[in-house]
Formats: sequence, structure tokens, C-alpha cells
Amino acid sequence: MSTATTATPIPVHSPLSSALSGTTAVLVGGTSGIGLAAGVLLRSVGARVVLVGRDADRLKAAVSRVRNVNPADGPGDAVLGIAGDGGDERTLAEAFDAAGHVDHVLVTAGGIGGAGPVSELSVGDVRATFDSRLGAAFAAARAAATRLPAGGSLTFSSGTLVVRPLPGMAAPLSVAGAVETLTRALAVELAPARLRVNTVRFGRIDTPLLRSLPGLDSDDAIAAAGSTAPLGRFGTAEEAAGAALFLMANNYVTGQVITVDGGETLGRS
Ligand SMILES: NC(=O)c1ccc[n+]([C@@H]2O[C@H](COP(=O)([O-])OP(=O)(O)OC[C@H]3O[C@@H](n4cnc5c(N)ncnc54)[C@H](OP(=O)(O)O)[C@@H]3O)[C@@H](O)[C@H]2O)c1
Repeated sequence: MSTATTATPIPVHSPLSSALSGTTAVLVGGTSGIGLAAGVLLRSVGARVVLVGRDADRLKAAVSRVRNVNPADGPGDAVLGIAGDGGDERTLAEAFDAAGHVDHVLVTAGGIGGAGPVSELSVGDVRATFDSRLGAAFAAARAAATRLPAGGSLTFSSGTLVVRPLPGMAAPLSVAGAVETLTRALAVELAPARLRVNTVRFGRIDTPLLRSLPGLDSDDAIAAAGSTAPLGRFGTAEEAAGAALFLMANNYVTGQVITVDGGETLGRS
């Protein structure tokens, strides 16, 4: 049996194009990795996208990448970019105002800030991690609650380390766990407004974030490390983003955390 075939990703084709065509999504963290892949997939099914990220050059490149999905778009409003911190409510207000009408919000902003053994973390370090990550989640929640129309959705990100933690990750994983709980709390709170709230819990997905980790900075290193995973590889950003599109498009899914990890959480430790 060839392992090469099992380790080759199959391109993602969303079956949900009719549900998302003509909608508008704000992608907080849409300038790289999973958020950028969501932008490409959304544009390919006819949605408008607003990308939000802090680094102006990365934002410019991402807007250009998503516009290239449909070169006929030109510089119109099918793909917009807003530079700023997703935890700043003014940035989100600017994104909503620029779009005019927003149906879906996806938050993939974040990283691995706040890592370190608990004995070496100051209260200030912990507070800063919570302030930045949870603050950003609440900022998105407030924007969604006040500005999304009935039928809209908010999707957060977390990671499988929440259920299979590694040492030295207490602060960031506490925040990721809180985001999963926030998802359920908001789902019941916002259901009367006919808004849905979900989270995608990612395993190891081949993005610039994963490649920033020690020993994972080349294609060979990624392939070698991924070869021990159940499906013989790490996930692609498109596969991860495809789950977020599913959650945007399915009007009867709310309060859920769905895992995209190629079965890694099931594996032996
Ligand atoms: N990749 C994985 O293996 C993995 C596994 C588990 C969980 N996750 C989670 O999945 C999410 C997406 O990860 P990824 O791999 O796609 O990461 P990525 O490639 O590093 O992309 C993250 C994006 O978020 C933006 N960003 C970060 N902080 C921001 C902020 N405060 N405001 C606005 N934008 C911000 C970054 O751009 P700027 O820096 O320019 O703002 C970047 O565009 C993250 O929350 C990550 O923790 C990823």
C-alpha cells in the first residue's frame, strides 16, 4: 500500500457555494494562514470579504491574493482590507462600516503568545495574554451582536491542545478553553436574534504560524513531522478554512466546537 497517496491533500471544494454566494464576511486575522485561505475560498464561491490584520504589508499582499481569485474584480469592494488590531473595537467598526453589510465574522487572529512554565509567568503576563486573546473574542462578539443581521454567524478558533495540552502552555490554552466556553454562552444568548456562534478547534495545520515553530520551517521538516500523524500529514489551510465555511453556511449549527485535526486527538500519546 502506498503511503504517498494517503498523504496527498485533495483540494477543498465547498458544496456550500449557493449559501455563501453574495454574502459578506469579515475575517479577523484574514491576512495569513487559515484566515487567508477562508478569504480565497469565500471569494471563489462568490462572497465578498473584508480582511483584517495588523501588518500593513501582509494585508496588502493578502488583499491582492484574494482579488486574484477573480481578476475581473478590480479594486472594487468585493475584497477589502482594514489594517488594525482585531481586539480594538474601532478596527471592527471600520471593517463593518467599509463593508456596509456583514453576514459572517470569522476570527482566526492569534498566535502562541503567553507561552511559558507557570512558575515563570507573572500575573502581568497572564493578564496580557487574556486581555489580548479574550479581549479580541469579546470585541468580535460585541460587533457581531450589535451589527450582524438575523441569519448571521460568528466563528472563533481554538486548538486541540485544549484537550491534549503540552507543558508550558497554561496561559494560551486557558484562553482557548475560554473561547470554547464563550462560544456556547453566546450561542444561547444570541439565538433569539437568530445569530449563530461556533468554534473550529484546529489540529496542526500547515500555515506560517506552524512553520514559525522550531524545526518546522521547511517543506521537508513539515512533511517529516506530519508523516507520523494518522493521515500521514498535517492539514492544509484550505481544509481548515473549509470547516469555517461550513459553519457559516449551515443555518442550524450553533454552539458547537468542531475539530479539524486529521484524527490526531484520537491517536495514542
Ligand atoms: N496552524 C495551526 O496549526 C493552529 C493550531 C491550533 C490553533 N490555531 C489557531 O488558529 C488561528 C489561525 O492560525 P494560523 O495558523 O492561520 O495563523 P497565522 O498564519 O499566523 O495567521 C494569523 C493571522 O492573524 C493575524 N493577527 C494576529 N493577531 C491579530 C490581531 N490582534 N488583530 C488582527 N489580526 C491579527 C495575523 O496578522 P498580523 O500579525 O499582521 O496581525 C495573521 O494574519 C490562530 O488563532 C491559531 O492560534 C492554529
